[in-house]
Amino acid sequence: MIVAVGNVKGGVGKTTLAVNLAIAQSRSGRDVLLIDGDEQGTAVAFTELRSEQKNGNPGYTVVSLHGTAIRTQVRQLASKYADIVIDVGGRDTGSLRAALTVADVVLVPVQPRSFDLWGVDQTAELIREAREINENLRAISVINAADAQGKDNEAAAQALREIEGIELAPGFIVRRKAFPNAAAAGLSILEHDDPKAIEEFNRLTEILFVHSNAIGAK
Ligand SMILES: Nc1ncnc2c1ncn2[C@@H]1O[C@H](COP(=O)(O)OP(=O)(O)OP(=O)(O)O)[C@@H](O)[C@H]1O
Ligand SMILES: [Mg+2]
Repeated sequence: MIVAVGNVKGGVGKTTLAVNLAIAQSRSGRDVLLIDGDEQGTAVAFTELRSEQKNGNPGYTVVSLHGTAIRTQVRQLASKYADIVIDVGGRDTGSLRAALTVADVVLVPVQPRSFDLWGVDQTAELIREAREINENLRAISVINAADAQGKDNEAAAQALREIEGIELAPGFIVRRKAFPNAAAAGLSILEHDDPKAIEEFNRLTEILFVHSNAIGAK
């Protein structure tokens, strides 16, 4: 399964979700490649830290790739890995476009705040363009860093449901300290003690990998 985590909007949780998805799959025994498509190199830096914490073995392979190299390299490497997760940089639409042409599914993290919601239209447009080449590209938005309570999550969900061509993942990933705390220690949310965060994250993993595999198998 090739999963791109992308949104033209920055700071929405792309890297957080991408590294956690890569680790979740590797913990299920799958051979995972994580592609850091962001010039900032956050996923690579995280993996170096994780490697130090895990006696030199982060559990997955990471490479840094940008622009059209994402497309060519993914095509070459797809048969070597069970799963490829691509953390696509915020501003770099060249990398995002390339990733969208080779991905099976694109995960679009969105924060339940108005500026972030507006950015989704631009991402949706890139997804529509990519489908001219990559017809079966599945797109799933997820509300990340959601409020623990209040009406904004549901309002954001309603707005996202109206965007054509992108499904909305059920539920929310609530803003929880466990995410930055785990990352700062080189760990995934699954290796950190926050059952609610784990439950929300596991639901997302299932939607992406289990459900998409079932569709692909038909
Ligand atoms: N569910 C969450 N709960 C709490 N904090 C979160 C959550 N998701 C992301 N964050 C925090 O929000 C910040 C931005 O997340 P992240 O770096 O993953 O976003 P990004 O989309 O990759 O940003 P960029 O566009 O700069 O690459 C980080 O400090 C991260 O720890
Ligand atoms: Mg990032």
